[in-house]
Amino acid sequence: MLLVLFILSMSATGSSNVEEIKTQERLFLNSLGLSVRPRPSEHRQVPSVLWRMFQRSSGKDNEFLLTENDPCVVSEYGVRGNIVRFVQDQGRVVSRWSDGCPGCLEKHVFFNMSILQPVEQLSLAQLELKFHWDISGSPRFLLGPKALSVSLYHVLRSTLKGANHQANRILLLSQSIRLHPQPGWLKLDLTALAEIWRQPGRNYGLVLELQPYTLDLPDAAHDQAGNALPLGPDATLPELQASLVSVSLNPLQCHSRRKRSAVYLPVTPSTVCRPRRLYIDFRDVGWQDWIIAPQGYLANYCHGECPFPLSESLNGTNHAILQTLVHSLEPHSTPQPCCVPIRLSPVSMLYYDNNDNVVLRHYQDMVVDECGCR
Ligand SMILES: *[C@@H]1O[C@H](CO)[C@@H](O)[C@H](O)[C@H]1NC(C)=O
Ligand SMILES: *[C@@H]1O[C@H](CO)[C@@H](O)[C@H](O)[C@H]1NC(C)=O
Repeated sequence: MLLVLFILSMSATGSSNVEEIKTQERLFLNSLGLSVRPRPSEHRQVPSVLWRMFQRSSGKDNEFLLTENDPCVVSEYGVRGNIVRFVQDQGRVVSRWSDGCPGCLEKHVFFNMSILQPVEQLSLAQLELKFHWDISGSPRFLLGPKALSVSLYHVLRSTLKGANHQANRILLLSQSIRLHPQPGWLKLDLTALAEIWRQPGRNYGLVLELQPYTLDLPDAAHDQAGNALPLGPDATLPELQASLVSVSLNPLQCHSRRKRSAVYLPVTPSTVCRPRRLYIDFRDVGWQDWIIAPQGYLANYCHGECPFPLSESLNGTNHAILQTLVHSLEPHSTPQPCCVPIRLSPVSMLYYDNNDNVVLRHYQDMVVDECGCR
């Protein structure tokens, strides 16, 4: 209903009060779990796993994010949730050399976890690191570094000595990965840590130390004799993509519901209460810059009379049946019951949030399937 009001006032000509439209836009954004309208500064590529999940949820089978038994499970990750975010790394490259590791590339990794609302329950935070080394353009590296020694630290505090100081960090992972010719991947469950990061002032991020070495000298990276191939200032550095996949559950937006069945809306003209076709095009509302998909959806609405005698197909309550009876006797004192949605179904949306993260979110009660007199 809110949505219909909002759309109607958006399309109303001239006379509409701008403030009122703003209020309705804000209310609708709130119902989507957003405090402000996102204004992404860049349009990041949508991770393929999110596309697959979105397409599956919008497909004919309406599998959605959900499994049949539990309405709020993200089956791809096997955890409860109705929001999947690809949180973007905001850390920067600190230096090419660090205290404990000469010749290392040192990179700060930071994920802003305050984008999660306090009500959300974090089910999973998985760090995904992708290393890609494009050495095709620099032939002198062809025989050079083809593997990477990776050390990942949790930064405990921020001091003048810096995040790379031993006392300020805890080693989470130390591993070597092959980089060439395939990109190298690392995945790490950081759910407990991400929960700490949600608390104000507790997020100092991670530090990554990367040291390339050649596969011909497998021990080179750890060789104290100085055989490790140092990174010259002009060396081609591996490209690093870091993201945190977070799956969370907003319990307020997750109740057990029947899955949507194919709904056939009769086209015969009728004044009796029933669902009417309403397609909402996000371009009409000017939201195409932050909603990735769908471009619009069939929301429908309820409209029509609830006349006496109330037939079974109008799904009237006992009270509504009685009210139509009273209305038929005294039309001026008592109105007809109202034609309202009695069954709604969900929609999933893929969008950019205000931090340019890609978010897949499951919204219940977005589509009117059935109407009734209440
Ligand atoms: C993290 O995100 C919140 C909410 O969008 C924002 O207010 C805050 O400035 C961000 N913090 C950083 C360090 O980017
Ligand atoms: C409403 O009435 C129709 C027709 O009798 C029926 O198919 C449908 O299941 C009813 N819906 C509910 C929610 O009771």
